[in-house]
Amino acid sequence: MAMLPNVRDANVGGRRVLLRSELNATFKPGTNDIADDSRIRASLPTLELLRERGAKTVVCTHIGRPSGKWDSGLTVEPVRERMAELLRCEVTYAGQAGSEQCADVVGSLEPGEIAILENLRFDAGEEGNAPEFARILSDLADVCVNDAFGASHRAHASIVGVPKLVSEHYAGLLLAAEDDALTEALKPVSGVSVAVVGGAKVADKLALIRSLAGQFDWVLTGGGMVKAFVDAKARRVADLSEEAQLAKTLWDDAELRRKIVLPAHGKITSEFSPDAEYHGIPIEFARPANRLILDIDGAAILEYTHLLKNASKIVWNGPMGVFEWPRFSEGTRAVAETIASRGDSAITLAGGGSTAEALQLFGLKDRLTHVSTGGGATLEYLEGKTLPGIAVLTGEC
Ligand code: 3PG
Repeated sequence: MAMLPNVRDANVGGRRVLLRSELNATFKPGTNDIADDSRIRASLPTLELLRERGAKTVVCTHIGRPSGKWDSGLTVEPVRERMAELLRCEVTYAGQAGSEQCADVVGSLEPGEIAILENLRFDAGEEGNAPEFARILSDLADVCVNDAFGASHRAHASIVGVPKLVSEHYAGLLLAAEDDALTEALKPVSGVSVAVVGGAKVADKLALIRSLAGQFDWVLTGGGMVKAFVDAKARRVADLSEEAQLAKTLWDDAELRRKIVLPAHGKITSEFSPDAEYHGIPIEFARPANRLILDIDGAAILEYTHLLKNASKIVWNGPMGVFEWPRFSEGTRAVAETIASRGDSAITLAGGGSTAEALQLFGLKDRLTHVSTGGGATLEYLEGKTLPGIAVLTGEC
């Protein structure tokens, strides 16, 4: 695979650098207060490098999904404030790309100073990768840097359009680190490799399970999606839900079936609630249509932790149950703790929004080899897809 050009090799002193970061933070419900600033923190090393080297940095990002319209609940202002606090320097608000305010702010930047553009998705040209919007952005740049790993699966103007127009384009430190860690996690290792895939729906994880089963010794499954496998094994084809039909396509493939491990035991309920009464029983008993699997437990936890303790490579995407509810967090916690306990004895990588959240909740985020900042981007990478934001930098598209 072609090498990613790295921002460390860029000549940026005194020049304008358009830095596409992934600052899509989550906010406390109904407020502009940032609930989780980990993506802002993860973007700081590149910003600091540019500042130290005297670049005139113009940061840009999307926040949420405003669909091409101004939305006061999704402005970059809270992100700008938090970034300035963490960097201990001024970060100037530059308004929307293409505005007079933007031209003034960017035009008066001094070496080492930072400005931030308004949410890129307030302009429909961002998601549409409109040539005109890409041109407006590229006019702000002598050099462009993509550090937005979490958005690099989107062929949007700031991700793909700009690097096509700005010949001096580079990957930021975060993008490069994510690419290295994910490449490493997908390389063959000596010893046993184990993938753990959880989540609510098979539809979201179908391609991931297929891809990982092709490369790993075991794919341990968990979360609500296990119900679709239970149904696929037990019911007549005519009675299968769409989800169960998808599970059946995996289960009917003898090669995949040899690798996919279903949890032996789970917490089975008939309502989706934090206080739901449950039965800790073999998962085959979750057959009736109204039964839900809200966690794995007992024999499943024993089997999964045993396999994880003996693995030399582990990739984890998706929780084993509704870990946000203490009553149904046991399986996810056991998996998280066992992966974290491997220390230097295994390569351990976790990715996906809720997986990172679970590790954060259990205070284990720093104990893995790598926890990806991406959601959909990580998923697509692990599925074996080439991300457009990376391909454009390596010249593959
Ligand atoms: C994410 O949160 O996964 C990224 O910011 C991408 O967001 P999107 O799914 O709205 O493109």
